[in-house]
Amino acid sequence: MTKSEPKQKLLAKKSHSISGNVSVPGDKSISHRAVILSMISQQTTKIFNILDSTDISRSLNTAMNLGIECKKKDGFIEIKGNGLHGLTSPKKELYFGNSGTAMRLFMGVLAAQKFPSTLIGDTSLNKRPMERVALPLRNMGAYIEMENDHAPVQIYPAEQILGCKHTLSIPSAQIKSAILLAALYANSETAVTYNSITRNHTELMLESFGRPISYNDHEIKITNGELKGREAITIPGDFSSASFLILATLMSKDSEILIKNVGLNPTRTGFLKILQMMGGDITVTTDPNSNFEIQGNIKIRSSKLQGINVPNNLISLSIDELPLVFLAAAFANGTTTIRNASELRLKESDRITAMAKLLTKLSIEVKELKDGLIIKGGTITGGEIDSFGDHRIAMTALIASVCSKSDILVHNTTNIDTSFPTFVKTMNQIGMNITEQDI
Ligand code: S3P
Repeated sequence: MTKSEPKQKLLAKKSHSISGNVSVPGDKSISHRAVILSMISQQTTKIFNILDSTDISRSLNTAMNLGIECKKKDGFIEIKGNGLHGLTSPKKELYFGNSGTAMRLFMGVLAAQKFPSTLIGDTSLNKRPMERVALPLRNMGAYIEMENDHAPVQIYPAEQILGCKHTLSIPSAQIKSAILLAALYANSETAVTYNSITRNHTELMLESFGRPISYNDHEIKITNGELKGREAITIPGDFSSASFLILATLMSKDSEILIKNVGLNPTRTGFLKILQMMGGDITVTTDPNSNFEIQGNIKIRSSKLQGINVPNNLISLSIDELPLVFLAAAFANGTTTIRNASELRLKESDRITAMAKLLTKLSIEVKELKDGLIIKGGTITGGEIDSFGDHRIAMTALIASVCSKSDILVHNTTNIDTSFPTFVKTMNQIGMNITEQDI
């Protein structure tokens, strides 16, 4: 069952300056984890500030299709956890829409169930690689089948899930998380070793739900067993959504904004380091009362940016913000080189080619490499852009209008709702001029 997605066009007119005190919706990665861990914990959890987006509704619907009670209340969502073994067999295929995170994390849990399941996605998700998750899970005893590396993914009951030692050959938090979730059901301890640091939201939330993790140099270990759970959890603002506001402000003249209550987990904020290396005027204040995830405020002022060679160690820490790094490079003086980023070709679109096409359309000189881009800063003109149905490409194209010579029209923008459904409202609130166009 592949659903056809509606299309939408957005026009961004050149704006003057950006200002205001704003907050952004709850973090997408953390919201998925909150739903999944609440579902298999031994308590009822109230989730505050959960992201209200189509991607998160895929996780919530899946939890409900597995027999879990999820209720929308005034200001929070309540999930009645039923323990590790309290899920029931779904009556139909599990549909994950555009959400790679939901599909891959649920694979870890579903691989350990006593019932079979079928996982499918939309046209984009059904083209994204899934063997990378199935392989380590099979090493743990899981029984997973698919054709050609793609969903539909068929999961059959495993005889037993085995504790394992896995080395991540791909720097992916999604693979790591699927292993950690399956590890809860294993017969012994599981260890994951890695070269590149990736977002650690699963580890932090597992710990806050009462399952200890031990950390060694580039290795984490988790023991099997139930999750005690927690009564309430508050999701910080999404750093990846905040990043659109950050770059829009830096590139606008005479602008300054304050973004409040944003997640500042250092495994996510490589983008800030890159922008600071380029000359961005950014001040971060962390909240001393941060809970299981660090959060705080970010103040940004208009800045002149300078091209750099982006250090390899910041790539996995800014993976979802790299389209914005490419745009910052187009705005900067001089040349910027971004390499070691071939994972970008496997996201909601091929983000290397999508951004090379986008910047070329906006009259910027770009050299496409297998694993990145070399971009020569210049004058950004206007133009018509195809987002390839990718939310982050659509939003990146729209904010280019803060410094473009003329308007930017972006096609195929509906998927902005997967991660930042209030994007247009928020950007217009701080001074941009984005309107919906008739198809
Ligand atoms: C995510 C991890 C990243 C990121 C994705 C969300 C997560 O993917 O690109 O948007 O929530 O774990 P990979 O871990 O596959 O790089």
